[in-house]
Amino acid sequence: MQNAEGGNQTLIKEFILLGFGDVGELQPLLFLVFLLIYTVTMAWNITIIALVVADGHLHTPMYYLLGNFSFMEICYTTTLLPRLLASLVTGDKTISVHNCILQLYCFALLSSMESLLLGAMSLDRYLAICHPLRYSALMNGRICCLLVVGSWIGSIVGYGLGTLSWRGLTYCGSNEIDHFFCDYAPMMKLICGDTRVWQLYTLIMSVIGTIVPFLLNLMSYVCIITAILKIPSATGKKKTFSTCSSHLTVVTVFYGTVMTVYVVPAANTPKIPDKIISVFYSVLIPMFNPIIYSLRNKEVKKSLQKVVLHMTALRNRL
Ligand SMILES: *[C@@H]1O[C@H](CO)[C@@H](O)[C@H](O)[C@H]1NC(C)=O
Repeated sequence: MQNAEGGNQTLIKEFILLGFGDVGELQPLLFLVFLLIYTVTMAWNITIIALVVADGHLHTPMYYLLGNFSFMEICYTTTLLPRLLASLVTGDKTISVHNCILQLYCFALLSSMESLLLGAMSLDRYLAICHPLRYSALMNGRICCLLVVGSWIGSIVGYGLGTLSWRGLTYCGSNEIDHFFCDYAPMMKLICGDTRVWQLYTLIMSVIGTIVPFLLNLMSYVCIITAILKIPSATGKKKTFSTCSSHLTVVTVFYGTVMTVYVVPAANTPKIPDKIISVFYSVLIPMFNPIIYSLRNKEVKKSLQKVVLHMTALRNRL
């Protein structure tokens, strides 16, 4: 096939995801590690959802958002890990262009869901701590539902429109993607022709999906910390802080890694490969978030202890 510029262009139907390269004997080990990560991630997140649904004490907007966050994490890892695991077992590194774009779409929309939900959670904490008297009027089940559904619809439609336009793009040269999933930057390199409009669209989407929630988080925490510092008693300070410390930890870890990905590369001399950094934010964070929530949040911990007690009692009776 000849394209308009006269260069040679073969029609690419499949990509090759190079993954972690030729690891040889390490392949089974890599498989086991990722399988373990996937199992732990699923187990913790399902536990959180089950606790939020089953325990009446957790039927508040804060925990509804947490349950939805866990659900999002499950979707997030499921778009990445099963395919990676399958290719580690079979050694088959190919992926159709269609599936690759689908994976990119899911990954992008779930990443934006992650920061939108973190933003909604900090909004909830901000209202609870800084406007306690108006909290129940401003944040209730219905408004919480509106935030969640709005974020899903916004992300699905916003990234959907962007992804539809991918179908018109052509790829030239190599069909190898040096990554373990179809991420935005490595795929961008394979596209030929003018991608400026597309890049602008992605930029706008990521500003709405990432920077706006980031500023929301930042502003909420400035107000929250100022409000906490104004509380006269030390126990009051501690008690108030404990209601938001787990969320603050998750937010810090999330934006910490995002910064590492986008800010550090500029000054990164002994370059750490992007895919190693990606492992952190795409694979490890969804595993650690529910653990942070279960260990740092008193209510979740209490609810978990109740379940464990029930189960041991049940086992002793059998
Ligand atoms: C997600 O949020 C909605 C609306 O606030 C809530 O009704 C639902 O229970 C939440 N889902 C989970 C799994 O917590």
